[in-house]
Amino acid sequence: MHDNGQMTTTLFTDTQRFADWLTTKRNNNIVGFVPTMGALHEGHSSLFDLARSQCDLVVASIYVNNLQFNSSSDYDRYPRTLDEDVLVCQSRNVDAVWAPSQHDLFPDGQQLLTTSENALEYEGRDRPGHFAGVATVVDRLLSIVHPDRMFLGAKDHQQISVIASMSSQLHPHVNIVRCPTVREHDGLAMSSRNRFLTQSGRSQAPIISLALQHMVDTWRTGETEPTRLIAQATSDLQQINGATVHYIAVLDGNELQQSKSVKHGDTAIIAVTIDNVRLIDNMKFVNV
Ligand code: PAJ
Repeated sequence: MHDNGQMTTTLFTDTQRFADWLTTKRNNNIVGFVPTMGALHEGHSSLFDLARSQCDLVVASIYVNNLQFNSSSDYDRYPRTLDEDVLVCQSRNVDAVWAPSQHDLFPDGQQLLTTSENALEYEGRDRPGHFAGVATVVDRLLSIVHPDRMFLGAKDHQQISVIASMSSQLHPHVNIVRCPTVREHDGLAMSSRNRFLTQSGRSQAPIISLALQHMVDTWRTGETEPTRLIAQATSDLQQINGATVHYIAVLDGNELQQSKSVKHGDTAIIAVTIDNVRLIDNMKFVNV
């Protein structure tokens, strides 16, 4: 602890040292875990803050997981900003940052897990193997951290569902905490990939969250037919020059089945590529 009351964040790159440290610290403490790929922004920080408010010990991992990228160029260009990331963790009172190398994390090689059915649609359809890569790395991380709680962002709606399926089978003691999406002032969901947008793409990207909000607003006026809400969003997204819309759907609650008639708690999801940058976002239909 510093004089100003701030805790010191310990950085581990060596997994054995990290595991040993956890053993000495664990006792009866509630361990909160935030898995990340680094390039930390306010979205990640909100997960650290929630973990800090609920847990005695907060651990973040930073690992750019090659298994979940669909192209090596996307993997290569993913931002790696470890020094800044450690400062962010320090400022949010994270106890430990664990940033392993691939060899350290998978000393016996990477065996891909098979995923549940919820990995096949939407992101899974457009990005074959992506969720198997996510599930494989999160399983590995959990098997070392053994947290009581894992904090995941609602921004990655389908990712939570796939991780929850894997975790309920392989790590049933872990509670998953779904954390709200943090947005830029103009509504764009924060993402490590936003930095790759051109100025023009960045200025048009908030149309995604506006389209989602428009769906929710129209539903609040009494429209419950998913196809009409989706048609409205399709037309909203046409305002973005040169965008490719991958999907727009309304899902049943936190499940991945399509909603037949939109109700409180359902989720609208959108995936769009602008400037070669794939952006995903979602919003819940909630009564005011
Ligand atoms: P990454 O993209 O770094 O995200 C780490 C966590 O931060 C995820 O749970 C994600 O949903 C959350 N997050 C990202 N942007 C957010 C925002 N704007 N608001 C709130 N939360 C946000 O997701 C991954 O890494 C990886 O797939 C990982 C789970 C670490 C496995 O490799």
